[in-house]
Amino acid sequence: MNYKIAILPGDGIGKEVTDCGVNVLKFVADRFGYDFQFEYGLIGHAAIEKTGVPLPEETLNLCQNADAILLGAVGHPMYDKNPSLNVRPEQGLLKVRKELGLYTNIRPIKIFDELIAASSLKPEVLRGADILFFRELTGGIYFGDRNSNSKAAFDTMSYSKEEVQRIVTKAFKAAKNRRGRLHSIDKANVLDSSRLWRSVVQELAVEFPEVEVIHMYVDNAAMQLIRDPKQFDVVVTGNMFGDILTDEASQIAGSLGMLPSASVGDRVGLYEPVHGSAPDIAGKNIANPLATILSTALMLDNSFEMKEASQCVIRAVEAILKKGFRTLDTADESTEPDKILGTNEIGMKVLKALEAKTPVSNLN
Ligand code: IPM
Ligand code: MG
Repeated sequence: MNYKIAILPGDGIGKEVTDCGVNVLKFVADRFGYDFQFEYGLIGHAAIEKTGVPLPEETLNLCQNADAILLGAVGHPMYDKNPSLNVRPEQGLLKVRKELGLYTNIRPIKIFDELIAASSLKPEVLRGADILFFRELTGGIYFGDRNSNSKAAFDTMSYSKEEVQRIVTKAFKAAKNRRGRLHSIDKANVLDSSRLWRSVVQELAVEFPEVEVIHMYVDNAAMQLIRDPKQFDVVVTGNMFGDILTDEASQIAGSLGMLPSASVGDRVGLYEPVHGSAPDIAGKNIANPLATILSTALMLDNSFEMKEASQCVIRAVEAILKKGFRTLDTADESTEPDKILGTNEIGMKVLKALEAKTPVSNLN
């Protein structure tokens, strides 16, 4: 099999982590007898610097013609200091999501046993938590009408019934195949868009009688997530609530550096770590590449139906954590200092573990 994979490293630590992801994909292609072609594109601040825009046509074309996309991160501190700049790196990411129709962002949140001590939460709260987040990605306040002048500004949160239906249906299907529980998160006590969201969920619930539906306000959900994460199975929510809640939920996975994501719509899938460009640690070879490596596992499974290879990648990550290897973000007092590795080095350990763990009988 032949697949074309677009690689968009982006900014900050994006290049370092995508390099590790590409190495894993190369290994998998080799071991499983696939042919992956990698083509690189510019996005974010890197693209603005070279072309003046955060998502050049060339990058969009590359993505449209790819079988899957691996993205690093976008963002640069110069924009944080100057809120009046109107060409910004994040626009590149939002545009690629919108143009490719990637309306469902799936963020699995689960802790590897080995990382329980790295989390700021208590072990008994964490152990066994396993949540699948569905975040709406191409609508809501991120894409609503907006305007500003020097005295005032507004953004609009708006959802159509159809936009809600398509993602909520995906979340119901996932819940049906998991533990049969769906939390829909909204702010229906205040917002009209949330009341529409809730009514769509209620309507669809009739088609999935085997799924238990729980409606929860977003403020309560923010509290419940860290009070008792085990109560959640599948969670579905709008764009901004999902953005905020998944950063919070990263503590259930030990570190933001561990969270992968898949953005899917009707065709090509985009895979990216949940973390940002982390400019403060960029270029230092200390970023955690495991979120990106786990994103490649999601790609192998969702886009190429390579379930076995995907599992091998996850098991390789687990194996190196079991051996005690960590990046700085997941190290704790009990980590042996010589097992705290750099980005490249932990990436190499994953490759080694893959080599040891991939059964040769899987060769096609
Ligand atoms: C994410 C990020 C993006 C978002 C930013 C970089 C625009 O925080 O993917 O969660 O808000 O969607
Ligand atoms: Mg975010």
